[in-house]
Amino acid sequence: MSYYKIESLEQYFKHYNKSIREPRKFWGKIAEENFTWYQQWEKVVEFNMAEADVKWFVDAKVNIVKNAIDRHLARRGTKTAIIFEPNNPDEPALHISYNELHQRVCKMANVLRAQGITKGDRVCIYLPMMPELAVSVLACARIGAIHSVVFAGFSAAALATRISDSECKMVITSDGGYRGNKTIDLKSIVDEALQSCPSVQTVLVAKRTHERINMRPDRDILLQPQLDAASDNNVAEIMDAEDPLFILYTSGSTGKPKGMVHTTAGYMVYTAYTFKNVFNYEENDIFWCTADIGWITGHSYILYGPLLNGATTVMFEGVPSYPDFSRFWEVIEKHKVTHFYTAPTAIRALAKENIDYIQPFPLKSLKVIGSVGEPINEEAWHWYNDHVGGKRCPLVDTWWQTETGGIMISPLAFITPTKPTYASLPLPGIQPVLMDEKRNEIEGNQVTGSLCIKFPWPSIARTIWGDHQRYKDTYFSTFPGKYFTGDGALRDEVGYYRITGRVDDVIIVSGHNLGTAPIEDAINEHPAVAESAIVGFPHDIKGNALYGYIILKETGESRDRTNLANEINMMISHQIGPIAKLDKIQFVSGLPKTRSGKIMRRILRKIAEGDFSNFGDISTLLNPEIVEEIKDGRI
Ligand code: PRX
Repeated sequence: MSYYKIESLEQYFKHYNKSIREPRKFWGKIAEENFTWYQQWEKVVEFNMAEADVKWFVDAKVNIVKNAIDRHLARRGTKTAIIFEPNNPDEPALHISYNELHQRVCKMANVLRAQGITKGDRVCIYLPMMPELAVSVLACARIGAIHSVVFAGFSAAALATRISDSECKMVITSDGGYRGNKTIDLKSIVDEALQSCPSVQTVLVAKRTHERINMRPDRDILLQPQLDAASDNNVAEIMDAEDPLFILYTSGSTGKPKGMVHTTAGYMVYTAYTFKNVFNYEENDIFWCTADIGWITGHSYILYGPLLNGATTVMFEGVPSYPDFSRFWEVIEKHKVTHFYTAPTAIRALAKENIDYIQPFPLKSLKVIGSVGEPINEEAWHWYNDHVGGKRCPLVDTWWQTETGGIMISPLAFITPTKPTYASLPLPGIQPVLMDEKRNEIEGNQVTGSLCIKFPWPSIARTIWGDHQRYKDTYFSTFPGKYFTGDGALRDEVGYYRITGRVDDVIIVSGHNLGTAPIEDAINEHPAVAESAIVGFPHDIKGNALYGYIILKETGESRDRTNLANEINMMISHQIGPIAKLDKIQFVSGLPKTRSGKIMRRILRKIAEGDFSNFGDISTLLNPEIVEEIKDGRI
């Protein structure tokens, strides 16, 4: 019996039970039967949750790109691996076959090696959604270099922090990128970032916009001439199962971004398995995930998951609103997309537009639609289900995180009955538990609590780059022996999970995970600002938007508030990126604090939401009178 594909609900329960009772047998069999290994493992899993120490497929040898490309060549060489849909609909789409992808990745791998990149080196990839992005990621993995993709919407300061933290030796970028009617000058952002990144020896520059750029002769190299000259013969590196595959930065509630480290074999097995089952992928399907490869969703479900299954994956350069709000539907019709995977923020934005943008499109090719990134509200769920899925495509609401590597809780398309706003049931191998404030596991159904996972799964992040202690403290210490997700959840009467949102100081804005601390740090750098606190408040399209409470220094008091607010948003944009700008700024004379000096964010959150009921007992605050003042001044 094979465990790779679940065919019915009954079988789901069977496989699930097997995966819990005998995880080693379950994952061992999946790994053995569906992937190519240089050498098999000694042990399927070895772990110590208290120490945040997890290893899968111990001592096995493998290369993920051999599995994602090379092994398909005999049977699927001429099949399209990647469809590249450009920003401008008048520019022809590219169909890159598995043969061509292999050739391009091998050439790129040889270019990297020729530039001195070897196994274990970190390579920062700061590219827009263009084919070179996919090729660079896969070329790194082929030669065992650790890729660290940084979303090309991040600022120079954010890029510099990420390059320095993992001491990247190389940056791969482009002259620029297109997004809707904007052109983004990426090379000059890289130039600015690299002023503070001495580890970088080489910058490879791909061409996309053909705008004029500055090239530093001792550091910068145009990519295309190197590729033209490179051989397409490349021997893949033999990697240990636990060798790092990539680093991907995610925001925390405190401190600098966390470089989550994913390793090779477990990530490979789990992303392939979840892609196959959550989406019910079949051989000739056309899969389109609208995320950017700069996020985990793009890593796992534009690239690795689909390619490991020999699928055709769509890579879209543009945005849903360009040239108009029909673009997604046009692309689905144009490429006969069967699987469409997007974020609630995009759904809400599109649902707000005139229905005429979607009405003319029958979208008959679609079989499955998916959602990821934040809780999907009831209204958005129904709009998506009715207008995109035509009430006939299962809507899979997939809950997972950068840290989890792959989808954790989700319906399986055509198998699990869906329920609006519920991520439903855990994937095989995933053991969710809800915890109460006293750190006890909450048994039974119709309960809510903090969502933890009590057994390791193959694609769990192994550490934070350079700071294992922080990894342990962040994820394994709140509920000792368990992985704490930072999310709250509800378990309904039949055991379905609904994710209710973050229980920490991370705010999800348009599907982007933003920590409050780095934004507050950026604001506090403004010379007129004394102190600040950021909270989220509900927003029709973004899900949450940011509300900033700001205390000015005496010197700032006389300044014009509109100008100040603009300057503060400019600083945030510069330090982090435009996604972190504040929607509302309220200047206050103080912040509610506990006697130990902790800001009472709960109260600030309620005020931002316009909910003035039930502040709880505020008499114990250091400055209870401030609550009234802030309430009265709410914007
Ligand atoms: O709060 C959860 C929310 O997004 C967080 C993870 O963000 P990130 O690491 O950026 O990864 C996003 C893409 C996997 C989670 O802790 N989240 C993600 N998917 C869902 C969700 N919340 C509710 N429902 C979801 N389907």
